[in-house]
Amino acid sequence: MERRKDWYEHPEYYEAIFGTDTVREADFLQELSRRFGTGGNQWLEPACGAGRLVEEAARRGLKVAGYDLSEAMLAHARKRLTPAERRRVKLSQARMEDFFDPALEGRVDLAHTLVSTFRYLDSEKAAVEHLTGTRRLLKPDGIYVLGFHLTDYARSGPEHERWVGQVGADKVVCNTHEGLPEQRLRRSPMRNRLRVTGPDKDWLIETTWYFRTYDEAQVKRLFRKSGLRVTATFDFDYDLDSPVGRGSPRLDRVFVLKPDTSSKA
Ligand SMILES: C[S@@+](CC[C@H](N)C(=O)[O-])C[C@H]1O[C@@H](n2cnc3c(N)ncnc32)[C@H](O)[C@@H]1O
Repeated sequence: MERRKDWYEHPEYYEAIFGTDTVREADFLQELSRRFGTGGNQWLEPACGAGRLVEEAARRGLKVAGYDLSEAMLAHARKRLTPAERRRVKLSQARMEDFFDPALEGRVDLAHTLVSTFRYLDSEKAAVEHLTGTRRLLKPDGIYVLGFHLTDYARSGPEHERWVGQVGADKVVCNTHEGLPEQRLRRSPMRNRLRVTGPDKDWLIETTWYFRTYDEAQVKRLFRKSGLRVTATFDFDYDLDSPVGRGSPRLDRVFVLKPDTSSKA
């Protein structure tokens, strides 16, 4: 077995696992934009990764700006676009903490960051910088759709999820562990193992990192501080007819955020 590090250096295997919900997510985002935003055609995807949602949005005729830290993920994103889609897409290498494009200022109809990617921002300062920076790019009626898991600090055991995917002849088994949250440091230790087996392959790609943690009160404070207000909340079922009610025990949340015009942030 060959050991490798960093799943984002292997976009095709990452997407075999996380690319399966793309059409449903794009449907959900478009409907959110119609109901809560402008329904307009300029989208932005911070940390767009290997571009599964960039491609899907461009296929639907939308204009998309996407950026990511990882050049390997961006290369995969560029490669997958047709020439016509490429004309509607602008991709760049940048960080969530400080991305800014003057051509997009006040012009974005919908920004989105799903699948807990926001939790890579490892401090309050970084999170506020990202949120205020993204708010600046939104139209006054634009929305930022942010999907991530809240943390139950009283949890007493680790969490584990397992998925199976396929890339050509290669089978991909993905195991993700979230360890116990370290409440004082506001982080959870994460570990992802991708086991890839095929005719000439037996790889274990192991990635470890920390995700920042938020409970309900912490996230509300953060949004307020960043000049954003929550317009609606859903969960990872992406069902527009089932918004998350007050005091829901579910921790997977999709926040629909709008610029708060009364905020001085
Ligand atoms: C879980 S993937 C999500 C990719 C894509 N949004 C999707 O839904 O498939 C997380 C991505 O975040 C990127 N990333 C992590 N920290 C980042 C940062 N500080 N700024 C920009 N990108 C970052 C990684 O390179 C990776 O491509």
